[in-house]
This record gives sequence, C-alpha cells and structure tokens, in this order.
Amino acid sequence: MSTHIGAQAGDIAPLVLMPGDPLRAKWIAETFLEDARCYTEVRGMYGFTGTWQGQRVSVQGSGMGQPSLAIYAHELMAEYDVQSIIRVGSCGAMTERVAVRDIVIASGACTDSSMNRIRFEGLDYAPVADFGLLRAAYDAATAQDLDEAVHVGLIYSSDSFYPARPELSARMVEYGVLAVEMEASALYTLAARHGRRALAICTVSDHLVTGEETTSQEREQTFGAMIEIALTAGLA
Ligand code: ADE
Repeated sequence: MSTHIGAQAGDIAPLVLMPGDPLRAKWIAETFLEDARCYTEVRGMYGFTGTWQGQRVSVQGSGMGQPSLAIYAHELMAEYDVQSIIRVGSCGAMTERVAVRDIVIASGACTDSSMNRIRFEGLDYAPVADFGLLRAAYDAATAQDLDEAVHVGLIYSSDSFYPARPELSARMVEYGVLAVEMEASALYTLAARHGRRALAICTVSDHLVTGEETTSQEREQTFGAMIEIALTAGLA
C-alpha cells in the first residue's frame, strides 16, 4: 500500500485513466471495463482495474486541483510503476473558438499555481503532453468523426474555480489558451520528472464567454466519447 492508495503491488495496470471525480472513476469502470475490481477506497478516492478489449487498464480518481492530483499521480508512478496517465476531465471554454460539448486535447498547460515556481525556484517550466499519446488521441478522435469538435492546444490549469481576477484569465486567451481546468499542469510536470507519459483530455462542460452550460445527460454522452478516445490512445 502507498500512503493514499490502498492497492498491493501489481494491482494497478501500466495505463491509468484519471478523472477528477471518484464517482466518475466508478462509472468508467462499470461502463467500459470488463471484470473491473476496486483496488482502493481510501478517502473515497476510488481506483479500479479491469480490461478493455483484452488489455489491462486502471481508472483512478484524482480529486480536484493540482495538489490532490499530484498525490495520486506521484504514488502511481513512484510506487506502482504506472507508465501512462491520461486525465479525463472537464474544462471551461475561454474562447468562442471552442464550444460546449467539444473536446480539448491539451498539448501544454499554463498555470497560476505556485507548485512549479517552488519546484524550479522561480524559473518558468513549460509542462507539455506526451506527443505519442497526443497524436494517438487526435487520430482516435478523427476516426470517431469528431475532428470538428476536437481542439488541440494550450489549456490553463488554475488553482481557483472562482478566480479573484478573471481579467487575468482573459489575457491567457490573447496568448492562445483555449480552456481552463485545474489539474493538467501538475500531471505533465510529474510525468516528465518520472520519465512517464501523460495526456489531459477534457470535455467542455461550461463556457466562460457565453455562460452556456451542459446538462448532466450531455456531459455523460461527451464524457463517453472522450473515454473511448483515451482508451484507444493509451493502448495504441
Ligand atoms: N472545470 C470545468 N469547468 C471549469 C471552470 N470553469 N474552471 C475551472 N475548472 C473547470
């Protein structure tokens, strides 16, 4: 067992899909995996291992925000030898180039978090996705005829769901940022540190410009398409 994951060595597959919400992890395991078995319930942050098209896959909740994700991503890579983590989450669109229900595949993640500022003693680090996973995810989306609804580009991993200064987020858009979420930057940084592969794929649940939001039924549908993309890319 690691400090926050109640699994034995070998319980967790080399590929882990990582939603923020642990109940999403349960839904993914029940909906997509065969013979899924729960390997951890510590703090209600469920993790499951099963198979998809005959190959082992795990699904692990990360919680919200970079400090929470960093705990699970670190333990998965350092203590369970996980090779690839694909975050499957939601994001808010920051520009009208992106619509609700679209999918954003994050090539890189900007952040307002101090985690990397501390790690690099004030130097800037550019956390980026694994190119192989990124390319495979884009190819999988194209094969699903989703290419018009799929965007590849920068996202913004914010520490604040309710930002004190929203105008700073707007400046990010002037520099090409497409959407906001709260975890990818730490995931990309930790994967680089451990020499592993990471990717963040997010469905757009809300729009910061138009104010539009998706219904929970719509969220489930687009979430399902995203999981297919993540599984196909992770096992390619
Ligand atoms: N995840 C989904 N929507 C978000 C938003 N508006 N801000 C931060 N994270 C999000």
